[in-house]
Amino acid sequence: MKNYIELLKKYNQEHILKYVDMVDEKKKNDLINQIEKINFEELNKLYEISNRDNTKAIKGIIIEHIPFVDKYKLEKERKETLTKIGEDIIKNNKYAVVTMAGGQGTRLGHDGPKGTFKLDVLPKPKYLFEILAENLLRENKKYGVVIPWYIMTSTENNEKTVSFFEEHNYFGYPKEDIKFFKQGNLPLLSEDGKLLIDENYNIKIASDGNGSIYKSMKNEGILSDMKKRGIEWIFIGAVDNAILNMCDPILLGLTIDEKNEVASKSVVKANPHEKVGVFCKKDSRPAVIEYTELPDQLAEETDEEGELLYGESHIMCNLYSLKALEKIAEQNLPYHSAHKKANYLDENGKLVKSEVPNGYKYEAFIFDGFNYFDNMTILRGRREEDFAPIKNKEGVDSPETAIKLYNEYWKLD
Ligand code: UTP
Repeated sequence: MKNYIELLKKYNQEHILKYVDMVDEKKKNDLINQIEKINFEELNKLYEISNRDNTKAIKGIIIEHIPFVDKYKLEKERKETLTKIGEDIIKNNKYAVVTMAGGQGTRLGHDGPKGTFKLDVLPKPKYLFEILAENLLRENKKYGVVIPWYIMTSTENNEKTVSFFEEHNYFGYPKEDIKFFKQGNLPLLSEDGKLLIDENYNIKIASDGNGSIYKSMKNEGILSDMKKRGIEWIFIGAVDNAILNMCDPILLGLTIDEKNEVASKSVVKANPHEKVGVFCKKDSRPAVIEYTELPDQLAEETDEEGELLYGESHIMCNLYSLKALEKIAEQNLPYHSAHKKANYLDENGKLVKSEVPNGYKYEAFIFDGFNYFDNMTILRGRREEDFAPIKNKEGVDSPETAIKLYNEYWKLD
């Protein structure tokens, strides 16, 4: 029992003791349990990366252009060959889809898991989860299969997500072919490196980034479930893209044809300084470089045809062989820090709601998984056919822009 006091003192977190004294016996034990599970050494290391100057993150690393294939420049015959390779995989029940839905969606500010956000599309408004379910049901019908659908949630939103699906009768998707699994989490830290307490007197935690997916899939038995089902290829996509194409046989066929284990769909940047991560090679290996890391000169560099050399945006449309996922699950992906708004209880037990970023969240990024391979396939798609993100309340990448793209895609305006 005394252990937690020593721990808190050793790591300069004694302020938490005050909260331990504020709660009843049951809650106290609960809180102590949470404290004792924290890896304080790891947390100290994470705090060191907070506020790091991102422009220095690529110092000493060789950044190079990475080749890609433009889907719309493929010749008819090549397209047909690749489509056939991809369709055979899907038709033979070797294909599964994973949706990453463990994010907090702080920018959108919707109350509840992001997938439960209703988008006012035509002919009738639909939840983001509903749109994904409909898309997959359409593919099932087309290929005469049921594609296993795995949904990653977080500690924070798992219960709400699962009951939302139950309430909506899984949007008609066969229940036995949907599996939810939880991703990992990490404590949030204040700007001066202190643990925070949430309104329920728990250590304030947050999901630890979508890169958490690899280890979570292993630890939660998802990779073994896939293996048991004979799955060989897995698509992993975001919950917040209203026109996400989860079954592109050309992407699948091209990856197999290029003998790669990892692939991604890209769309060309709207302009050289669009705030998106782009594909490149870092020290000869496939990677995504964040816009905060990309020097202006590289951002603007073009080839002889005037195409941006670093213009392929990562749109969270990723494909892996099962073997590739098993391999990445064994690695420790790096963490990045994000400066975010965090509500917390002050030392008088009063809730403090911050209007400005006041804490650090630590996240692993899914694209850091690409770095463990010599090559990957990149297929350039088209924004209007592949990418309608819902990130912000209004303006760029908001429900308004996504509704327009959705309606145009389905020709419903
Ligand atoms: P974003 O990076 O856009 O984050 O997620 P977000 O949490 O949805 O939104 P903000 O930044 O708080 O406003 C891209 C995709 O990765 C998933 C999200 O659910 C979304 O599908 N994600 C993100 C996770 O599954 N887990 C995480 O820890 C973070």
